Amino acid sequence: MKQLLLEPCFIFILLVISVTNTPTCLCVDDASYTNCSNAFSCGNNNFNLKYPFWGENRGNYCGGGPNLESEKLTCEAQVPKITINLIKYRVLGWENTSQILKVARDDYWDNNNICVNGDRNSTFDNSPFQYDYDGLVNVTLFYDCPASFSPSTIPSLPPSTVFSFPCGGGSFVYYTAQALPSSYEAPCKIVVIPIFQTNNDSLENSERIIEALQGGFEIEWTGNYEKCEKCTGSGGECGSVDGNFQCFCKDGPHSASCKERQKVYNNSHCSTNLIRPL
Ligand SMILES: *[C@@H]1O[C@H](CO)[C@@H](O)[C@H](O)[C@H]1NC(C)=O
Ligand SMILES: *[C@@H]1O[C@H](CO)[C@@H](O)[C@H](O)[C@H]1NC(C)=O
Ligand SMILES: *[C@@H]1O[C@H](CO)[C@@H](O)[C@H](O)[C@H]1NC(C)=O
Ligand SMILES: *[C@@H]1O[C@H](CO)[C@@H](O)[C@H](O)[C@H]1NC(C)=O
Ligand SMILES: *[C@@H]1O[C@H](CO)[C@@H](O)[C@H](O)[C@H]1NC(C)=O
Ligand SMILES: *[C@@H]1O[C@H](CO)[C@@H](O)[C@H](O)[C@H]1NC(C)=O
Repeated sequence: MKQLLLEPCFIFILLVISVTNTPTCLCVDDASYTNCSNAFSCGNNNFNLKYPFWGENRGNYCGGGPNLESEKLTCEAQVPKITINLIKYRVLGWENTSQILKVARDDYWDNNNICVNGDRNSTFDNSPFQYDYDGLVNVTLFYDCPASFSPSTIPSLPPSTVFSFPCGGGSFVYYTAQALPSSYEAPCKIVVIPIFQTNNDSLENSERIIEALQGGFEIEWTGNYEKCEKCTGSGGECGSVDGNFQCFCKDGPHSASCKERQKVYNNSHCSTNLIRPL
């Protein structure tokens, strides 16, 4: 009897609470937002590697696409690395204002590797990166040259501009920072690696060529970074889902900016209206 009398009253109270309950959101920040708000963590650099990069502590949705695999970073012995078209690079810097990534070939990093890596040029085809040749000089390395080869056999190139790196057993890797004559077909395998013009000094010294290769070169991320700037300007963190740009905000993902009304999907983790009538 007492119970029956109380019940409608209880429901009424619930209704009042529910109606006056303005949607105070007992939210935790969106998980994607939180995840992508952390820069790539590796070693003690301050490169601030965020969008379009992902890997390790950053989920793949923090990447830019369209070729996510080439934006994936790994951390090896405290060194951030990126693998593009099967070649691994050390990341030496990133400027988010110009989207310039500074990299050096990992396979040429250690001192004598220059002797054994005659098989691959760096290519950025089908990746969101491309060379930025501003301030760069191509170094051409000659591998597996026949005994008949010598720098003087390269037409219209002063032999004094072609240097040699001793690889033991009387074998050499030849290299030059000069452009080869376009018609020239070397009897050797050729690998071309850009270096900074500022590193194009005293390359006849074989230690210097290693230093110059370790100095790396610049490539540019060619995706649409303006979208990201718009997103971060509104307090969001950039990422992508299925190749589409996403702006992850504290209240969930938006398509472009945290200021727009329409969210990409329902904010299911946000528990508004905890108390409902029945
Ligand atoms: C972000 O997400 C990735 C992939 O799911 C995960 O490995 C990583 O631990 C997350 N990082 C943080 C800080 O939550
Ligand atoms: C590297 O590129 C040069 C031209 O830029 C080419 O002559 C050479 O054959 C290429 N080397 C390899 C290993 O593909
Ligand atoms: C380096 O070589 C590439 C391809 O072989 C060429 O497109 C580029 O212009 C060269 N860069 C410089 C600075 O000579
Ligand atoms: C690199 O340096 C050599 C001399 O050390 C010079 O002859 C050459 O022109 C330089 N190359 C470029 C592209 O600056
Ligand atoms: C670029 O980097 C600076 C400082 O490292 C940071 O404050 C800014 O938010 C970044 N811009 C974007 C669009 O991520
Ligand atoms: C949000 O979810 C509810 C229930 O799951 C659904 O009825 C509603 O249409 C969704 N709203 C949007 C904008 O997707």
